[in-house]
Amino acid sequence: MSIKLITPLMRNGISEMHLKLARTCKDISKVGLSILSILDEYLDVFEYVPEELVFKKVRIPEKTFAREISTLRTKKLVESHSTRAAYRLTFLGLDCLALLELVEKGVVTHVGPSIGTGKESVLYLAKTSTNEIAVVKFYKIGRVSFKKVVRYRGYLTDQPSWLEASKLAAEREYRALLLLSKHTNLIPKVWGWSKHAVVMEYIDGEDLYRYRNARDPKSILNLILTTMRSAYLNAGIVHADLSEYNIVVSVRDSSEIPYIIDWPQYVSREDPLAEEYLTRDVSNLLKFFKRRYGVSLDLEKTVGYVKGLVDGI
Ligand SMILES: Nc1ncnc2c1ncn2[C@@H]1O[C@H](COP(=O)(O)OP(=O)(O)OP(=O)(O)O)[C@@H](O)[C@H]1O
Ligand SMILES: [Mg+2]
Repeated sequence: MSIKLITPLMRNGISEMHLKLARTCKDISKVGLSILSILDEYLDVFEYVPEELVFKKVRIPEKTFAREISTLRTKKLVESHSTRAAYRLTFLGLDCLALLELVEKGVVTHVGPSIGTGKESVLYLAKTSTNEIAVVKFYKIGRVSFKKVVRYRGYLTDQPSWLEASKLAAEREYRALLLLSKHTNLIPKVWGWSKHAVVMEYIDGEDLYRYRNARDPKSILNLILTTMRSAYLNAGIVHADLSEYNIVVSVRDSSEIPYIIDWPQYVSREDPLAEEYLTRDVSNLLKFFKRRYGVSLDLEKTVGYVKGLVDGI
């Protein structure tokens, strides 16, 4: 994966525009942005915000308003209700609000190509104001993943909209990474968050399930367990969706370093389900290491290690 493709995003405007998302966001007019912000403001009140309300708040002539709304609709930043005069933000509209806010706050200065799509997110390469390579993870919680969300992620069940649910997920991931950063280095550093987007360190590596022929699988597993132990004992949290799919292995100076990613569904260790989730997380990992590398550890003992009940495995 080349990071050379990263294009300057903006200080005073996006200077290169091969990137669709950056181009779309850059082209929004000032009034257009105000309309998007108003729709965002009412996200927790209305699914579709009545036109009257938006019009009253934005304070522009009727004709200009109609033109701006039409442009936003054409660009798919806004959708209108099928029968009523009312509008709602699309994910693309929220992407732009988040990205522009992150640029404004000085969290990111450049944005690059998309590096992947998860079941619940789209990730873009970016550069921070301190010149570090980052990832902007935009949450896209929707119908496809919602069953999974409800089943595994109790914290989202009462959310009124996908956009709201996505914002909550981003905020949770930001908080988890920030908390964890005080206790372990084996998670991505986090630089900021806005709306449904989190800006975190780009881990140059490969997902554990894709990473074949590990040189030292035992050491990789040990490092993962140490990180989980630190998360449990020092940060007081359990990942709750851990498996070979949420670990990125980075190879540096011939050492294999596993980073634990994707934290929005974490639970506090005081949560009544924490024990169950922790056991499931450990069990997923042990099954993977047994199947792929023949490394065998006792489940109960390993859970005890992560919980700090014993000092070694
Ligand atoms: N900080 C990062 N650095 C490098 N790659 C990353 C980073 N975060 C995520 N990725 C890549 O993007 C993929 C999806 O990310 P993540 O697991 O966080 O999102 P997700 O939408 O919850 O995915 P899923 O639901 O499919 O597990 C990861 O499997 C990984 O390959
Ligand atoms: Mg994941």
